[in-house]
Amino acid sequence: MRTELATAVAGQGRLVLLGGEAGIGKTTLARDLSREAVALGCRVLIGHCYDLTNPPPYGPWLDLFEGSQSLPALPAPPAAFAGGALAAVTDQAALFAEVRRFLAELTANDPALILLEDLHWADQASVDLLRHVGPHLRHWPLLLLATYRADELSRGHPLSRQFPALVREADGFRLDLRRLAVDALRALISERRLARQDEDRLVAYLERHAEGNPFFATELLRTLEEKELLRRTENGWSLGELDRVLVPSLLRQVIDGRVARLGETTRQPLAIAAVIGQEVPLALWSEVAELDEQALLDVVDGAVEAHLLDAERDGTRVRFVHALTREALYESVLPPRRRTWHQLVAEVLLTSTDPEPDALAFHLQEAGDPRAWEWLVKAGDRAQRAYAWLTAAERLRTAAALLDGVAGKDRMRCQLLYRLSRLQRFSDPAGAIGALDEAGLLAARVGDPVLAAEVQWHRGNLLFYA
Ligand SMILES: Nc1ncnc2c1ncn2[C@@H]1O[C@H](COP(=O)(O)OP(=O)(O)OP(=O)(O)O)[C@@H](O)[C@H]1O
Ligand SMILES: [Mg+2]
Repeated sequence: MRTELATAVAGQGRLVLLGGEAGIGKTTLARDLSREAVALGCRVLIGHCYDLTNPPPYGPWLDLFEGSQSLPALPAPPAAFAGGALAAVTDQAALFAEVRRFLAELTANDPALILLEDLHWADQASVDLLRHVGPHLRHWPLLLLATYRADELSRGHPLSRQFPALVREADGFRLDLRRLAVDALRALISERRLARQDEDRLVAYLERHAEGNPFFATELLRTLEEKELLRRTENGWSLGELDRVLVPSLLRQVIDGRVARLGETTRQPLAIAAVIGQEVPLALWSEVAELDEQALLDVVDGAVEAHLLDAERDGTRVRFVHALTREALYESVLPPRRRTWHQLVAEVLLTSTDPEPDALAFHLQEAGDPRAWEWLVKAGDRAQRAYAWLTAAERLRTAAALLDGVAGKDRMRCQLLYRLSRLQRFSDPAGAIGALDEAGLLAARVGDPVLAAEVQWHRGNLLFYA
Protein backbone atom coordinates (compact mmCIF):
# COMPACT_ATOMS: atom_id res chain seq x y z
CA MET A 1 0.00 0.00 0.00
CA ARG A 2 2.86 2.36 0.82
CA THR A 3 4.44 1.64 -2.57
CA GLU A 4 1.14 2.41 -4.25
CA LEU A 5 0.87 5.66 -2.29
CA ALA A 6 4.45 6.64 -3.17
CA THR A 7 3.85 5.93 -6.87
CA ALA A 8 0.69 8.02 -6.79
CA VAL A 9 2.29 10.91 -4.92
CA ALA A 10 5.14 10.91 -7.45
CA GLY A 11 2.60 11.71 -10.16
CA GLN A 12 1.35 8.41 -11.49
CA GLY A 13 -2.08 7.91 -9.96
CA ARG A 14 -3.15 4.47 -8.75
CA LEU A 15 -6.34 2.59 -7.95
CA VAL A 16 -6.25 0.36 -4.87
CA LEU A 17 -9.12 -1.98 -4.01
CA LEU A 18 -9.11 -3.10 -0.42
CA GLY A 19 -11.37 -6.06 0.30
CA GLY A 20 -12.18 -8.34 3.21
CA GLU A 21 -14.97 -9.42 5.53
CA ALA A 22 -16.82 -7.07 7.88
CA GLY A 23 -14.67 -5.81 10.75
CA ILE A 24 -11.42 -7.16 9.32
CA GLY A 25 -9.71 -3.75 9.40
CA LYS A 26 -10.24 -2.14 5.99
CA THR A 27 -11.31 1.23 7.38
CA THR A 28 -8.55 1.17 9.98
CA LEU A 29 -5.91 0.48 7.34
CA ALA A 30 -7.38 3.05 4.95
CA ARG A 31 -7.39 5.71 7.68
CA ASP A 32 -3.80 4.88 8.63
CA LEU A 33 -2.75 5.23 5.02
CA SER A 34 -4.68 8.52 4.77
CA ARG A 35 -2.68 9.86 7.70
CA GLU A 36 0.55 8.90 5.96
CA ALA A 37 -0.76 10.55 2.81
CA VAL A 38 -1.42 13.79 4.71
CA ALA A 39 2.15 13.67 6.00
CA LEU A 40 3.30 13.41 2.37
CA GLY A 41 1.33 16.56 1.52
CA CYS A 42 -1.84 14.91 0.17
CA ARG A 43 -5.31 16.29 0.50
CA VAL A 44 -7.75 13.60 1.58
CA LEU A 45 -11.38 13.37 0.46
CA ILE A 46 -13.69 10.64 1.74
CA GLY A 47 -17.04 9.35 0.46
CA HIS A 48 -19.10 6.66 2.20
CA CYS A 49 -21.78 4.22 1.11
CA TYR A 50 -24.40 3.23 3.65
CA ASP A 51 -26.31 0.04 4.30
CA LEU A 52 -29.91 -0.63 5.29
CA THR A 53 -31.19 1.97 2.88
CA ASN A 54 -31.82 2.58 -0.82
CA PRO A 55 -28.48 3.90 -2.07
CA PRO A 56 -29.09 7.14 -4.00
CA PRO A 57 -27.44 7.44 -7.42
CA TYR A 58 -23.79 8.51 -7.09
CA GLY A 59 -24.17 8.07 -3.29
CA PRO A 60 -20.49 7.90 -2.22
CA TRP A 61 -19.49 10.65 -4.66
CA LEU A 62 -22.20 12.94 -3.28
CA ASP A 63 -21.05 12.12 0.23
CA LEU A 64 -17.50 12.99 -0.79
CA PHE A 65 -18.47 16.39 -2.17
CA GLU A 66 -20.76 17.13 0.78
CA GLY A 67 -18.07 16.24 3.28
CA SER A 68 -15.31 18.22 1.60
CA GLN A 69 -17.21 21.50 1.17
CA SER A 70 -15.27 23.13 3.98
CA LEU A 71 -11.81 22.17 2.69
CA PRO A 72 -9.85 25.28 1.72
CA ALA A 73 -9.11 26.09 -1.92
CA LEU A 74 -10.99 23.16 -3.31
CA PRO A 75 -11.84 23.42 -7.03
CA ALA A 76 -15.51 23.90 -7.88
CA PRO A 77 -17.33 20.57 -7.65
CA PRO A 78 -19.19 19.18 -10.67
CA ALA A 79 -22.44 21.17 -10.93
CA ALA A 80 -24.62 18.09 -10.53
CA PHE A 81 -22.93 17.23 -7.21
CA ALA A 82 -22.57 20.73 -5.72
CA GLY A 83 -23.49 20.84 -2.05
CA GLY A 84 -23.86 17.08 -1.90
CA ALA A 85 -27.39 17.06 -3.34
CA LEU A 86 -27.93 15.46 -6.73
CA ALA A 87 -29.09 17.93 -9.38
CA ALA A 88 -30.38 16.96 -12.79
CA VAL A 89 -27.77 15.62 -15.18
CA THR A 90 -28.37 16.65 -18.74
CA ASP A 91 -25.54 14.66 -20.18
CA GLN A 92 -23.72 11.80 -18.48
CA ALA A 93 -20.59 12.17 -20.59
CA ALA A 94 -20.44 15.85 -19.58
CA LEU A 95 -20.82 14.91 -15.89
CA PHE A 96 -17.99 12.40 -16.12
CA ALA A 97 -15.84 14.98 -17.91
CA GLU A 98 -16.59 17.45 -15.11
CA VAL A 99 -15.48 14.92 -12.51
CA ARG A 100 -12.25 14.47 -14.48
CA ARG A 101 -11.84 18.24 -14.59
CA PHE A 102 -12.35 18.37 -10.82
CA LEU A 103 -9.75 15.66 -10.20
CA ALA A 104 -7.24 17.33 -12.51
CA GLU A 105 -7.68 20.68 -10.74
CA LEU A 106 -7.62 19.02 -7.31
CA THR A 107 -4.25 17.49 -8.03
CA ALA A 108 -2.78 20.37 -10.07
CA ASN A 109 -0.57 21.59 -7.18
CA ASP A 110 -0.71 18.92 -4.49
CA PRO A 111 -1.20 15.16 -4.53
CA ALA A 112 -4.48 13.76 -3.19
CA LEU A 113 -5.99 10.64 -1.75
CA ILE A 114 -9.64 9.80 -2.37
CA LEU A 115 -11.16 7.14 -0.16
CA LEU A 116 -14.43 5.54 -1.25
CA GLU A 117 -15.73 3.42 1.62
CA ASP A 118 -17.89 0.28 1.53
CA LEU A 119 -18.49 0.00 -2.20
CA HIS A 120 -20.48 -3.22 -1.64
CA TRP A 121 -23.34 -0.83 -0.81
CA ALA A 122 -22.77 1.38 -3.86
CA ASP A 123 -25.30 2.01 -6.62
CA GLN A 124 -24.63 1.24 -10.25
CA ALA A 125 -23.95 4.83 -11.34
CA SER A 126 -21.22 5.24 -8.69
CA VAL A 127 -19.45 2.15 -9.95
CA ASP A 128 -19.80 3.38 -13.56
CA LEU A 129 -18.19 6.67 -12.59
CA LEU A 130 -15.38 4.88 -10.76
CA ARG A 131 -14.77 2.71 -13.79
CA HIS A 132 -14.70 5.76 -15.99
CA VAL A 133 -12.19 7.56 -13.75
CA GLY A 134 -9.94 4.50 -13.29
CA PRO A 135 -7.96 4.59 -16.56
CA HIS A 136 -7.37 8.36 -16.23
CA LEU A 137 -5.77 8.11 -12.79
CA ARG A 138 -2.24 7.64 -14.12
CA HIS A 139 -2.24 11.26 -15.35
CA TRP A 140 -2.63 12.70 -11.85
CA PRO A 141 -0.85 12.43 -8.48
CA LEU A 142 -3.89 10.73 -6.97
CA LEU A 143 -4.43 7.56 -5.00
CA LEU A 144 -7.98 6.29 -5.30
CA LEU A 145 -8.57 3.82 -2.52
CA ALA A 146 -11.83 1.88 -2.40
CA THR A 147 -12.92 -0.54 0.32
CA TYR A 148 -15.54 -3.27 0.05
CA ARG A 149 -16.72 -6.37 1.89
CA ALA A 150 -15.76 -9.13 -0.49
CA ASP A 151 -18.26 -11.57 1.02
CA GLU A 152 -21.19 -9.21 0.46
CA LEU A 153 -20.74 -8.88 -3.27
CA SER A 154 -23.54 -11.00 -4.66
CA ARG A 155 -23.19 -12.04 -8.25
CA GLY A 156 -25.65 -9.46 -9.53
CA HIS A 157 -24.05 -6.61 -7.58
CA PRO A 158 -22.92 -3.65 -9.72
CA LEU A 159 -19.40 -3.83 -8.28
CA SER A 160 -18.96 -7.57 -8.75
CA ARG A 161 -20.14 -7.35 -12.36
CA GLN A 162 -17.68 -4.58 -13.19
CA PHE A 163 -14.88 -5.67 -10.90
CA PRO A 164 -12.70 -7.50 -13.44
CA ALA A 165 -13.02 -4.70 -15.99
CA LEU A 166 -12.35 -2.06 -13.34
CA VAL A 167 -9.13 -3.75 -12.20
CA ARG A 168 -7.95 -4.44 -15.75
CA GLU A 169 -8.69 -1.04 -17.28
CA ALA A 170 -7.21 0.94 -14.40
CA ASP A 171 -4.37 -1.51 -13.77
CA GLY A 172 -5.64 -1.56 -10.19
CA PHE A 173 -3.97 -3.11 -7.17
CA ARG A 174 -6.09 -5.55 -5.13
CA LEU A 175 -5.50 -6.36 -1.52
CA ASP A 176 -7.62 -8.76 0.50
CA LEU A 177 -7.26 -8.57 4.26
CA ARG A 178 -7.18 -11.86 6.10
CA ARG A 179 -8.04 -12.81 9.66
CA LEU A 180 -5.57 -12.16 12.45
CA ALA A 181 -3.23 -15.01 13.28
CA VAL A 182 -2.16 -15.83 16.83
CA ASP A 183 0.90 -13.57 16.80
CA ALA A 184 -1.22 -10.65 15.55
CA LEU A 185 -3.70 -11.25 18.39
CA ARG A 186 -0.78 -11.25 20.78
CA ALA A 187 0.37 -7.92 19.35
CA LEU A 188 -3.17 -6.58 19.72
CA ILE A 189 -3.16 -7.10 23.46
CA SER A 190 0.54 -6.42 24.03
CA GLU A 191 0.06 -2.92 25.42
CA ARG A 192 -1.86 -4.37 28.34
CA ARG A 193 1.29 -5.79 29.86
CA LEU A 194 -0.09 -9.07 31.17
CA ALA A 195 1.95 -11.84 32.78
CA ARG A 196 2.98 -14.40 30.18
CA GLN A 197 0.53 -17.02 31.42
CA ASP A 198 -2.42 -14.59 31.42
CA GLU A 199 -1.45 -13.34 27.99
CA ASP A 200 -1.57 -16.91 26.67
CA ARG A 201 -5.00 -17.40 28.22
CA LEU A 202 -6.32 -14.18 26.74
CA VAL A 203 -4.93 -14.94 23.27
CA ALA A 204 -6.51 -18.40 23.38
CA TYR A 205 -9.82 -16.86 24.47
CA LEU A 206 -9.77 -14.32 21.63
CA GLU A 207 -8.74 -16.90 19.11
CA ARG A 208 -11.64 -19.13 20.07
CA HIS A 209 -14.32 -16.47 20.29
CA ALA A 210 -13.32 -13.75 17.85
CA GLU A 211 -12.13 -16.06 15.09
CA GLY A 212 -9.32 -13.72 14.16
CA ASN A 213 -11.67 -10.84 13.40
CA PRO A 214 -10.21 -7.61 14.87
CA PHE A 215 -13.62 -6.01 15.35
CA PHE A 216 -14.90 -8.98 17.33
CA ALA A 217 -11.62 -9.10 19.23
CA THR A 218 -11.68 -5.43 20.24
CA GLU A 219 -15.37 -5.69 21.20
CA LEU A 220 -14.60 -8.70 23.39
CA LEU A 221 -11.67 -6.87 25.00
CA ARG A 222 -13.91 -3.89 25.78
CA THR A 223 -16.50 -6.23 27.30
CA LEU A 224 -13.87 -7.87 29.49
CA GLU A 225 -12.65 -4.45 30.63
CA GLU A 226 -16.18 -3.25 31.36
CA LYS A 227 -16.78 -6.36 33.45
CA GLU A 228 -13.45 -5.72 35.15
CA LEU A 229 -12.20 -9.15 34.23
CA LEU A 230 -9.38 -7.40 32.47
CA ARG A 231 -8.15 -4.47 34.49
CA ARG A 232 -5.20 -2.31 35.31
CA THR A 233 -3.75 -2.84 38.76
CA GLU A 234 -0.94 -1.17 40.63
CA ASN A 235 1.60 -3.59 39.22
CA GLY A 236 0.48 -4.12 35.62
CA TRP A 237 -2.68 -5.65 34.23
CA SER A 238 -4.62 -8.60 35.62
CA LEU A 239 -6.90 -11.09 33.97
CA GLY A 240 -9.79 -12.74 35.81
CA GLU A 241 -11.25 -16.20 35.43
CA LEU A 242 -12.35 -16.34 31.79
CA ASP A 243 -13.97 -19.74 32.01
CA ARG A 244 -16.69 -18.28 34.13
CA VAL A 245 -17.58 -15.60 31.59
CA LEU A 246 -20.62 -16.59 29.69
CA VAL A 247 -19.39 -15.95 26.19
CA PRO A 248 -22.03 -14.97 23.73
CA SER A 249 -21.13 -16.69 20.51
CA LEU A 250 -22.58 -14.01 18.35
CA LEU A 251 -21.27 -10.53 17.93
CA ARG A 252 -24.79 -9.23 18.31
CA GLN A 253 -24.88 -10.49 21.85
CA VAL A 254 -21.54 -8.90 22.60
CA ILE A 255 -22.80 -5.55 21.38
CA ASP A 256 -26.21 -6.02 23.04
CA GLY A 257 -24.44 -6.66 26.32
CA ARG A 258 -22.32 -3.53 26.00
CA VAL A 259 -25.28 -1.38 25.06
CA ALA A 260 -27.39 -2.85 27.87
CA ARG A 261 -24.74 -1.79 30.38
CA LEU A 262 -25.26 1.81 29.27
CA GLY A 263 -28.78 1.55 30.72
CA GLU A 264 -32.25 1.54 29.20
CA THR A 265 -32.32 5.34 28.86
CA THR A 266 -29.45 5.04 26.36
CA ARG A 267 -30.30 1.70 24.78
CA GLN A 268 -33.68 2.67 23.38
CA PRO A 269 -32.57 5.96 21.76
CA LEU A 270 -29.57 4.15 20.25
CA ALA A 271 -31.85 1.54 18.72
CA ILE A 272 -33.93 4.39 17.26
CA ALA A 273 -30.75 5.93 15.87
CA ALA A 274 -29.95 2.60 14.22
CA VAL A 275 -33.32 2.71 12.49
CA ILE A 276 -32.64 6.26 11.26
CA GLY A 277 -29.37 5.35 9.56
CA GLN A 278 -25.62 5.03 9.74
CA GLU A 279 -25.47 8.80 9.93
CA VAL A 280 -27.95 10.32 12.37
CA PRO A 281 -29.02 13.98 12.21
CA LEU A 282 -29.57 15.10 15.82
CA ALA A 283 -32.70 17.13 15.04
CA LEU A 284 -34.42 14.13 13.45
CA TRP A 285 -33.26 11.82 16.19
CA SER A 286 -34.52 14.05 19.00
CA GLU A 287 -37.93 14.31 17.36
CA VAL A 288 -38.35 10.58 16.73
CA ALA A 289 -37.01 9.58 20.14
CA GLU A 290 -39.02 12.37 21.82
CA LEU A 291 -35.99 13.58 23.75
CA ASP A 292 -35.11 17.17 24.45
CA GLU A 293 -31.67 18.46 23.54
CA GLN A 294 -30.10 17.91 26.96
CA ALA A 295 -31.37 14.33 27.27
CA LEU A 296 -30.16 13.52 23.78
CA LEU A 297 -26.74 15.01 24.42
CA ASP A 298 -26.43 12.79 27.51
CA VAL A 299 -27.16 9.78 25.31
CA VAL A 300 -24.57 10.98 22.79
CA ASP A 301 -21.97 11.47 25.52
CA GLY A 302 -22.51 7.95 26.84
CA ALA A 303 -22.41 6.38 23.40
CA VAL A 304 -19.33 8.32 22.27
CA GLU A 305 -17.60 7.34 25.50
CA ALA A 306 -18.46 3.69 24.82
CA HIS A 307 -17.06 3.98 21.25
CA LEU A 308 -20.43 3.31 19.68
CA LEU A 309 -20.93 6.74 18.09
CA ASP A 310 -18.68 9.43 16.68
CA ALA A 311 -19.75 13.07 16.81
CA GLU A 312 -19.36 14.90 13.51
CA ARG A 313 -17.36 18.08 13.63
CA ASP A 314 -20.24 20.39 12.66
CA GLY A 315 -22.24 19.29 15.71
CA THR A 316 -25.47 18.58 13.85
CA ARG A 317 -25.10 14.84 13.43
CA VAL A 318 -23.49 11.72 14.80
CA ARG A 319 -22.35 8.58 13.02
CA PHE A 320 -22.13 4.98 14.15
CA VAL A 321 -18.45 4.16 14.60
CA HIS A 322 -18.99 0.84 12.94
CA ALA A 323 -21.68 -0.47 10.61
CA LEU A 324 -21.65 -3.79 12.47
CA THR A 325 -22.70 -2.01 15.67
CA ARG A 326 -25.60 -0.43 13.89
CA GLU A 327 -26.58 -3.72 12.27
CA ALA A 328 -26.56 -5.46 15.66
CA LEU A 329 -28.67 -2.71 17.24
CA TYR A 330 -31.09 -2.74 14.33
CA GLU A 331 -31.47 -6.51 14.57
CA SER A 332 -32.12 -6.24 18.29
CA VAL A 333 -35.36 -4.34 17.69
CA LEU A 334 -38.38 -6.55 17.14
CA PRO A 335 -39.88 -6.09 13.66
CA PRO A 336 -43.21 -4.54 14.79
CA ARG A 337 -41.38 -1.86 16.76
CA ARG A 338 -38.90 -1.28 13.96
CA ARG A 339 -41.83 -0.68 11.67
CA THR A 340 -43.30 1.91 14.05
CA TRP A 341 -40.00 3.72 14.22
CA HIS A 342 -39.54 3.71 10.46
CA GLN A 343 -43.02 5.22 10.27
CA LEU A 344 -42.11 7.94 12.77
CA VAL A 345 -38.89 8.75 10.89
CA ALA A 346 -40.87 8.96 7.65
CA GLU A 347 -43.47 11.29 9.20
CA VAL A 348 -40.76 13.66 10.39
CA LEU A 349 -38.99 13.56 7.02
CA LEU A 350 -42.30 14.25 5.27
CA THR A 351 -42.62 17.55 7.14
CA SER A 352 -39.17 18.73 5.98
CA THR A 353 -38.97 21.02 2.99
CA ASP A 354 -36.99 18.91 0.56
CA PRO A 355 -36.85 15.29 1.76
CA GLU A 356 -34.29 12.93 0.29
CA PRO A 357 -36.54 10.71 -1.88
CA ASP A 358 -34.46 7.53 -1.54
CA ALA A 359 -34.28 7.78 2.26
CA LEU A 360 -37.95 8.68 2.62
CA ALA A 361 -39.07 5.92 0.25
CA PHE A 362 -36.95 3.45 2.21
CA HIS A 363 -38.50 4.37 5.58
CA LEU A 364 -42.04 4.33 4.13
CA GLN A 365 -41.36 0.92 2.56
CA GLU A 366 -40.07 -0.50 5.83
CA ALA A 367 -43.09 0.95 7.61
CA GLY A 368 -45.40 -0.70 5.08
CA ASP A 369 -46.86 2.74 4.33
CA PRO A 370 -48.89 2.87 1.08
CA ARG A 371 -47.31 6.22 0.19
CA ALA A 372 -43.98 4.49 -0.41
CA TRP A 373 -44.67 4.09 -4.13
CA GLU A 374 -44.97 7.86 -4.71
CA TRP A 375 -41.54 8.46 -3.23
CA LEU A 376 -40.06 5.51 -5.07
CA VAL A 377 -41.30 7.15 -8.27
CA LYS A 378 -39.75 10.46 -7.18
CA ALA A 379 -36.48 8.65 -6.44
CA GLY A 380 -36.77 6.92 -9.83
CA ASP A 381 -37.39 10.25 -11.59
CA ARG A 382 -34.36 11.76 -9.97
CA ALA A 383 -32.18 8.77 -10.81
CA GLN A 384 -33.34 8.90 -14.43
CA ARG A 385 -32.55 12.62 -14.64
CA ALA A 386 -29.06 11.75 -13.36
CA TYR A 387 -28.61 9.02 -16.00
CA ALA A 388 -28.62 6.36 -13.29
CA TRP A 389 -30.92 4.17 -15.35
CA LEU A 390 -30.48 0.93 -13.46
CA THR A 391 -31.27 2.60 -10.15
CA ALA A 392 -34.26 4.32 -11.78
CA ALA A 393 -35.48 0.96 -13.12
CA GLU A 394 -35.05 -0.61 -9.69
CA ARG A 395 -37.17 2.11 -8.01
CA LEU A 396 -39.93 2.01 -10.63
CA ARG A 397 -40.03 -1.80 -10.50
CA THR A 398 -40.49 -1.70 -6.72
CA ALA A 399 -43.13 1.04 -7.03
CA ALA A 400 -45.06 -0.99 -9.64
CA ALA A 401 -44.88 -4.08 -7.43
CA LEU A 402 -46.28 -2.11 -4.48
CA LEU A 403 -49.25 -1.03 -6.63
CA ASP A 404 -50.08 -4.60 -7.62
CA GLY A 405 -53.72 -5.21 -6.70
CA VAL A 406 -54.28 -1.68 -5.34
CA ALA A 407 -57.72 -0.47 -6.40
CA GLY A 408 -57.73 2.45 -8.83
CA LYS A 409 -54.01 2.23 -9.55
CA ASP A 410 -53.98 0.04 -12.66
CA ARG A 411 -53.33 2.97 -14.99
CA MET A 412 -50.45 4.25 -12.88
CA ARG A 413 -49.00 0.76 -12.64
CA CYS A 414 -49.29 0.36 -16.39
CA GLN A 415 -47.42 3.64 -16.96
CA LEU A 416 -44.71 2.65 -14.50
CA LEU A 417 -44.20 -0.70 -16.22
CA TYR A 418 -44.04 1.05 -19.57
CA ARG A 419 -41.37 3.44 -18.27
CA LEU A 420 -39.56 0.51 -16.67
CA SER A 421 -39.41 -1.29 -19.99
CA ARG A 422 -37.93 1.83 -21.64
CA LEU A 423 -35.27 2.05 -18.93
CA GLN A 424 -34.20 -1.57 -19.12
CA ARG A 425 -34.54 -2.12 -22.85
CA PHE A 426 -30.77 -2.34 -23.29
CA SER A 427 -29.67 -3.87 -20.00
CA ASP A 428 -32.39 -6.51 -19.82
CA PRO A 429 -34.50 -6.76 -23.00
CA ALA A 430 -36.26 -9.94 -21.87
CA GLY A 431 -37.26 -8.26 -18.60
CA ALA A 432 -38.43 -5.23 -20.58
CA ILE A 433 -40.70 -7.42 -22.71
CA GLY A 434 -42.08 -9.06 -19.55
CA ALA A 435 -42.89 -5.60 -18.13
CA LEU A 436 -44.66 -4.69 -21.38
CA ASP A 437 -46.71 -7.90 -21.33
CA GLU A 438 -47.99 -6.92 -17.91
CA ALA A 439 -48.52 -3.31 -19.01
CA GLY A 440 -50.54 -4.54 -22.00
CA LEU A 441 -52.91 -6.51 -19.76
CA LEU A 442 -53.35 -3.49 -17.51
CA ALA A 443 -54.02 -1.14 -20.44
CA ALA A 444 -56.73 -3.54 -21.63
CA ARG A 445 -58.17 -3.71 -18.14
CA VAL A 446 -58.43 0.07 -17.75
CA GLY A 447 -59.90 0.23 -21.27
CA ASP A 448 -57.36 2.64 -22.73
CA PRO A 449 -56.81 1.71 -26.41
CA VAL A 450 -54.20 4.41 -26.99
CA LEU A 451 -52.05 3.23 -24.09
CA ALA A 452 -52.55 -0.39 -25.19
CA ALA A 453 -51.44 0.49 -28.73
CA GLU A 454 -48.38 2.34 -27.49
CA VAL A 455 -47.39 -0.64 -25.34
CA GLN A 456 -47.89 -3.02 -28.29
CA TRP A 457 -45.88 -0.82 -30.62
CA HIS A 458 -43.01 -0.59 -28.21
CA ARG A 459 -43.17 -4.34 -27.57
CA GLY A 460 -42.97 -5.00 -31.30
CA ASN A 461 -39.95 -2.74 -31.58
CA LEU A 462 -38.21 -4.54 -28.76
CA LEU A 463 -38.91 -7.95 -30.24
CA PHE A 464 -37.59 -6.74 -33.56
CA TYR A 465 -34.28 -5.46 -32.14
CA ALA A 466 -33.69 -7.91 -29.30
N1 LIG B 1 -4.72 -4.00 12.58
C1 LIG B 1 -5.55 -3.82 13.61
N2 LIG B 1 -5.07 -3.86 14.85
C2 LIG B 1 -5.89 -3.69 15.90
N3 LIG B 1 -7.19 -3.47 15.84
C3 LIG B 1 -7.72 -3.41 14.64
C4 LIG B 1 -6.94 -3.58 13.46
N4 LIG B 1 -7.73 -3.47 12.41
C5 LIG B 1 -8.95 -3.25 12.90
N5 LIG B 1 -8.95 -3.19 14.23
C6 LIG B 1 -10.11 -3.00 15.11
O1 LIG B 1 -11.23 -3.61 14.50
C7 LIG B 1 -12.29 -2.70 14.36
C8 LIG B 1 -12.92 -2.88 13.02
O2 LIG B 1 -12.04 -2.47 11.99
P1 LIG B 1 -12.53 -1.68 10.71
O3 LIG B 1 -13.60 -0.72 11.07
O4 LIG B 1 -11.30 -1.15 10.08
O5 LIG B 1 -13.15 -2.86 9.87
P2 LIG B 1 -13.71 -2.84 8.38
O6 LIG B 1 -12.98 -3.89 7.64
O7 LIG B 1 -13.66 -1.46 7.84
O8 LIG B 1 -15.19 -3.34 8.59
P3 LIG B 1 -16.53 -3.00 7.76
O9 LIG B 1 -16.55 -3.87 6.55
O10 LIG B 1 -17.64 -3.39 8.67
O11 LIG B 1 -16.50 -1.53 7.45
C9 LIG B 1 -11.70 -1.32 14.55
O12 LIG B 1 -12.57 -0.51 15.27
C10 LIG B 1 -10.44 -1.55 15.33
O13 LIG B 1 -10.72 -1.38 16.69
MG1 LIG C 1 -15.15 -0.15 7.27
